[in-house]
Amino acid sequence: MLSNICVSMSKIKFSFGRPVSPEQFYDREEELNRIRSRLLTIKDGVKNDIVLVGPRRVGKSSIIFYLEHNLAQEDIFTMNLDCEGLDLSSFLKTYGNTIIESELKAMGLMRRFGERIKKGFTEAISTMAEALGKLRAVELGTSSEEFLRFRIEFDKSTRNRSLADDELDELFERTIALPNNLDKKYIVMFDEFQETANFNFSRGGFHANFRKSIRNQNNVAYVFTGSAIGMMDTIFNDPKNPLAGAAEVIRVNPFDIQTSNSFLEIRFKEAGRKITPDIEEFIFDQVGGFPAYLNWAGLRICDLIPENKTITMDIAKKVCEEIHSPISPIFQMIEKQLVKLGLKTKNILHCMALGYKRPSEIGSEANVKNVYVYLNRLQSYGLVSKINDHYELIDPIITEHLKRT
Ligand SMILES: Nc1ncnc2c1ncn2[C@@H]1O[C@H](COP(=O)(O)OP(=O)(O)OP(=O)(O)O)[C@@H](O)[C@H]1O
Ligand SMILES: [Mg+2]
Repeated sequence: MLSNICVSMSKIKFSFGRPVSPEQFYDREEELNRIRSRLLTIKDGVKNDIVLVGPRRVGKSSIIFYLEHNLAQEDIFTMNLDCEGLDLSSFLKTYGNTIIESELKAMGLMRRFGERIKKGFTEAISTMAEALGKLRAVELGTSSEEFLRFRIEFDKSTRNRSLADDELDELFERTIALPNNLDKKYIVMFDEFQETANFNFSRGGFHANFRKSIRNQNNVAYVFTGSAIGMMDTIFNDPKNPLAGAAEVIRVNPFDIQTSNSFLEIRFKEAGRKITPDIEEFIFDQVGGFPAYLNWAGLRICDLIPENKTITMDIAKKVCEEIHSPISPIFQMIEKQLVKLGLKTKNILHCMALGYKRPSEIGSEANVKNVYVYLNRLQSYGLVSKINDHYELIDPIITEHLKRT
């Protein structure tokens, strides 16, 4: 009877495949403290925008989700928009919808309208129109009501055709200005912000206009994240670019060895399994502290080791090997990430995986003349980092993947 109760108390909190929920979120104390101390000055109307950069699967989106949850308890409104795959007009429309969604949520009306706003473009218009009709008595704030009216007309008159330059300008101006006009403090988070570098916008480009529009806002602070580390660095640090110096860049790294070990120890304990320090270290060695890989290894080990048992080295080795099998989701993710690269770029990566670090060696080994062009590109994608005068792959699982293919 007693052992039954114990069994039902244990809980597997490893999670893989999407940003983690606050309950599954582990540590990141240092990053969170630093980010919060910058962002919270918005309460006094002081803006400290920040940039979170880090390689794929390191936990950037999870930090953003956790922050959203966390800030909600301090009367700060948050908005989270993933820029992946958007062009300028879909970015502006989705952003506008997200703001309205957040306003409806604040009014407790999200359940009635919000889900349908998410469903997409045409549905969004009718939903907004309906919302406006129904809300007249409730009174949505003036600014959002005005914006809603604008959007309903705008979407109606531009349906099924592309936007003229002046229409795009107006949509841009009104959308970017909206969160600042809402009489509250907002933190707006743009995930995968490097995607906006491809936005096609007249009048000097998207970033120049964006900076100009947000510069004097004192009700909104921004968080920009991206996995294309070099691209994000260029956007925010290269003096040639309009957003240079606009926000403080904070690096998100994989868990260090202590954090990785304690993560595994605590999570396995919660799951009713026991792990020993040698196995914690072996796993860290294999996956380099990337939280995504730690979680997947955790889930697989729990499949193979029953509750109340101690994890064996054989099983840990088996699971770490399984990461590289073509049916593992990690293998699939990495393939998807690398498939976009050209042949020469892949050759270069391959040589780097074999241990070549100096540009001259890499160039001659891969038989490529302008090796710096490729190394810079790989840096901009966030796959390679430069340490003094040599270059290294960031992710040990990608390194091993390349060795084997
Ligand atoms: N703080 C954390 N605690 C526990 N697990 C985490 C944490 N952060 C990330 N993870 C694990 O890593 C995985 C990837 O996290 P997340 O999606 O936040 O990374 P990301 O940096 O946004 O990746 P991408 O660049 O691919 O979007 C999660 O699915 C989860 O398994
Ligand atoms: Mg992400």
